[in-house]
Amino acid sequence: MQQFLSEFIGHFHPVIVHLPIGILLLAAILYWLSLKKRYSAIRPAVRISLLLGMLSAFAATISGYLLSTIDDYDQGMISRHQWFGIVTTIISAIAYYLENKNQKQFQWIILLLVIMITLTGHFGGSLTHGEDYLTSAFGNYSSEQKIKPIANVQEAMVYEDIIQPILANKCYSCHSSRKQKGGLRLDDIEWILKGGKNGKVVKPGDAGESEIIHRTQLPREHEDHMPPKEKTQPSKMQIQLLKWSRSLSNRVR
Ligand code: HEC
Repeated sequence: MQQFLSEFIGHFHPVIVHLPIGILLLAAILYWLSLKKRYSAIRPAVRISLLLGMLSAFAATISGYLLSTIDDYDQGMISRHQWFGIVTTIISAIAYYLENKNQKQFQWIILLLVIMITLTGHFGGSLTHGEDYLTSAFGNYSSEQKIKPIANVQEAMVYEDIIQPILANKCYSCHSSRKQKGGLRLDDIEWILKGGKNGKVVKPGDAGESEIIHRTQLPREHEDHMPPKEKTQPSKMQIQLLKWSRSLSNRVR
């Protein structure tokens, strides 16, 4: 039951977070506008939007916490986003408190609030979209890495050109810097060799027998089948390539 509630409420987090972001930023904009004489009449709206923003920030914090208990995101990234979220919620409460008390302090708290919302949102985005989400347009690796054509098969690097793109497209969403489902990362040779929570996933010298290959070959309905059945599956050809790639482990012998 508890698991069900955490999952149900937690999964609303990505939707709920947009409320405090929108409402609190609006509160700041209304406040800055109201400093102009022309707009001074909207000042009362600052207080009400701060109140609504604070309440929704609280709801976002609770749902975010529940989500963190059920999903295997990277712990370091989770706790950074989590603490920034908690502090932002507290700052929104302080802003609400100061609004009709101390104007000098209030103007600084509003500025701090906007900065904190931006950072918290950014760290949250990094969790779901990957650390390089904002900069990926500049050509960094992205998890939806394009499989580049191999100009000369004789010169192809087995891991870089053939294996890594398959893993990047089909496995990184759950097994890389963002998430480590089953305690397993597949985004680097070192991590692959390290294995997951149940130990090694590649048998040195015989990739054909390794856990990675075994799991992709299980029937799709099987509990241990990878990637999980609702996800895009590697093609038969890609599985053959994984099997054939004994060099995955030979490389390091
Ligand atoms: C949608 C998320 C998701 C994707 C995509 C995914 N996996 Fe997994 N994987 C999991 C989960 C969840 C577990 C843990 C299952 C468990 O604990 O029984 C896991 C566990 C594993 C394990 C066992 C690790 C251990 O030591 O217990 C291997 C091996 C594995 N995955 C390989 C792969 C490969 C190879 C791919 C890509 C072809 C892949 N996975 C894609 C979610 C995913």
